[in-house]
Amino acid sequence: MAENLGGNLLVKNGRVVTSEGLFNMDILIIDGVIEAIGRDLKQSYVEVLDVSGMLVFPGVVDEHVHMREPGLTYKEDFITGTMAAAAGGVTTVLDMPNNIPPVDSLEKLKEKRRIVESKAYVDFGLYGVLHDSNIDDLEEMWYGGAVGFKVFLGPTTGDIPPPSDKILLEALEKSGTHGFTLAFHAENYGLVEYYTRKIKMLGRNDPEVYSDSRPNVCEEEAVSRIVIYTRKTNGKALIVHTSTSEAVSIIREAKSRGVKIYCETCPQYLLLNREAYSRHGSLVKINPPLRDRFDQESLWRGLRENMVDTVASDHAPHTIEEKSKNIWEAAAGFIGVETLFPLMLDSALRGLIPLEKIPEILSEKPARIFNLYPKKGSISVGADGDLVIVDPNHHYTIKQEELHSKHKITPFNGIDVRGWIKHVVLRGVEIVRDRKVVCRKPLGKFVKPVV
Ligand code: DOR
Ligand code: ZN
Repeated sequence: MAENLGGNLLVKNGRVVTSEGLFNMDILIIDGVIEAIGRDLKQSYVEVLDVSGMLVFPGVVDEHVHMREPGLTYKEDFITGTMAAAAGGVTTVLDMPNNIPPVDSLEKLKEKRRIVESKAYVDFGLYGVLHDSNIDDLEEMWYGGAVGFKVFLGPTTGDIPPPSDKILLEALEKSGTHGFTLAFHAENYGLVEYYTRKIKMLGRNDPEVYSDSRPNVCEEEAVSRIVIYTRKTNGKALIVHTSTSEAVSIIREAKSRGVKIYCETCPQYLLLNREAYSRHGSLVKINPPLRDRFDQESLWRGLRENMVDTVASDHAPHTIEEKSKNIWEAAAGFIGVETLFPLMLDSALRGLIPLEKIPEILSEKPARIFNLYPKKGSISVGADGDLVIVDPNHHYTIKQEELHSKHKITPFNGIDVRGWIKHVVLRGVEIVRDRKVVCRKPLGKFVKPVV
């Protein structure tokens, strides 16, 4: 299969981690595709990687990144962003459409693909955006290779206004008919504006006030609305960067009724809460904002109970200058694609979630939600040979200056994590060794969902 042409590699003596358990297995990759999985595999003509004592995971599918190309490459570009992904064990990224120009037509999708394709160090899919005036373009974009569609219901980077309720319903009807996923930034626009105005009138400028300017109810309202429309239409909706206990409860109830609603959260909502403002100030300004401990606990519980389906980075790079302004002026978001897997793996190795959850929430489920499974997100015969191989006994400190992004500033700087990324394999080619990118040129390819 020419499009899968990649490396030949025999990965021996690893402990393979899948959602179904841990198995001592060898993995044979031929032309980039997994050809055999079993004990004592032998193949005389391929390179052998002996990974005794190490854990072997499927490559991470980060379903939520903003690589900023084209148009905002002073913040990040496809080279730096996908190098960061690779170094963090992410072998597929799904890139958001709020760059300049926004990806709102087939023509813009093709243009973006043309611009970024030769710069990708990992495989990549591209989202289209749904706004109020491109509903008729969705089918063409979907059949033309868009991985799904992002819908911004609340104000954030890119200032893309939310579609009307009528358009949302229509888009979800189309999702039901054609099978694409709509990924919702679920904050009610009007409520965010209302609370922001109210809080600003109080004249407060302390960073923590940002969380009060977009309180939980903004997310609660938006998620409820999406659930109703998704149920009515039989569409498929992913709530991205879920941050509140209210949202988890609503999603729990909707799932129990068979609604095709999926829930993504991010390490920042699991590991940080509004106490982080006192230490990090505007650096931890993100949309939706950091919440309370109670919300964090609901998210962890949701993960354990399969209510939270996926964890993605929401890698949202900005310059250090943009992040250093006062809380109202500062840009929202921070980098995360390189720390997503290390932070979640560390959480698992510390016992917060079972180790088998890691491949499920970081690889399998994102790939399933975006119709990329089992080619991506799984270790199975016929899948792409994308692997992250980790020494679980080695720990290290995350140092932001070692990260690959253009602007190296993260609140996770200085955190000690268990689990050392020894090798990252993309379609049978070792692209990272010891957390350093070792392939000389970008090998990433455009991925298309199965339609
Ligand atoms: O904090 C955020 N940053 N939230 C978003 O929804 C967008 C993102 C960005 O693109 O900067
Ligand atoms: Zn985002």
